Amino acid sequence: MSRILTGIQSTGRPHLGNILGAIIPAVELANKAENDSFLFIADMHSLTQIKNAEELQANTFQVAATWLACGLDPEKTTFYRQSDVPECTELTWYLNCYFPYQRLKLAHSFKDKSDRLEDVNSGLFVYPMLMAADILLYDANYVPVGKDQLQHLEMTRDVASRINHKHGDVFVLPEPILQKDAQLIPGTDGEKMSKSRNNTIDIFEDPKSIKKLINKNIITDNTPLEEPKDPQTSTIYHLYKLISSEKEAKKMEKELQAGGYGWGHAKKDLIDAVILKFEQEREKFNHYMNHPQEVEDILKKGALKAKKVAQATLLRIRKNLGYSY
Ligand code: TRP
Repeated sequence: MSRILTGIQSTGRPHLGNILGAIIPAVELANKAENDSFLFIADMHSLTQIKNAEELQANTFQVAATWLACGLDPEKTTFYRQSDVPECTELTWYLNCYFPYQRLKLAHSFKDKSDRLEDVNSGLFVYPMLMAADILLYDANYVPVGKDQLQHLEMTRDVASRINHKHGDVFVLPEPILQKDAQLIPGTDGEKMSKSRNNTIDIFEDPKSIKKLINKNIITDNTPLEEPKDPQTSTIYHLYKLISSEKEAKKMEKELQAGGYGWGHAKKDLIDAVILKFEQEREKFNHYMNHPQEVEDILKKGALKAKKVAQATLLRIRKNLGYSY
């Protein structure tokens, strides 16, 4: 059995692009019988950017509710909040002391963020070591990540190897599993769907708002209704294809090509598909948002399971470094 571990950023409510590109594939991976999965909300990493307690908490709940609504089974997966297992910060300190400053300075993510953000704090700088601690604390074999996180994985392996070299086999060296590029999911303007571009579709909104948003924000050309249209250049068709069956997508493709089927019709079909496809998820999401105690209980239960593993690893490390254990 392989241990698979991933951390989820908690910067706001996930949108359709996150759900199709990252969450649904990760839930499938986590629910597979042969995997022992650990999934956590990286709310300590969030502190590098968010200093408002209510916002931090609200983000965590929305993210947790999304994963649960999208089918994550918390009985099968160890699902927890990073801050509920503060053992990771102790390990971060040890890793910091073994990783050369000059190497940490080479992290692309720090360069990107420090160019962009106003609050360039030290936490942002040691971010990769907290991430390495998240992974090494649980002896993870595989870590599904996007391309932007590969360098952090390299640093994780690097720091683990340095400690193993000095103290024997303390850590398991994790391998990345490269996730598909979310580039494939277009936003309402046809570019990659992302919060910063303001082109997202929120599947948890009420159906009326989803309808309004799609009608208003997806721009179409003015090809008359009766004329044929090119599905390949249409954002409506691309989105529809991602969420409907092959047969339904083929039907829309043919209808667009044949003419007599307007952009208004296509939008209506897309709206109906979004509303129907995520009906259950919307219901579950709202249920969890209205019952935060249930989410809290699930996360706390997950943290207890995670803590057991974390404490055992930490003792092993403390012993190797010369601390009491
Ligand atoms: N840094 C990751 C991101 O931005 C989130 C993360 C934190 C993570 N700790 C992790 C991912 C450990 C994988 C493993 O997406």
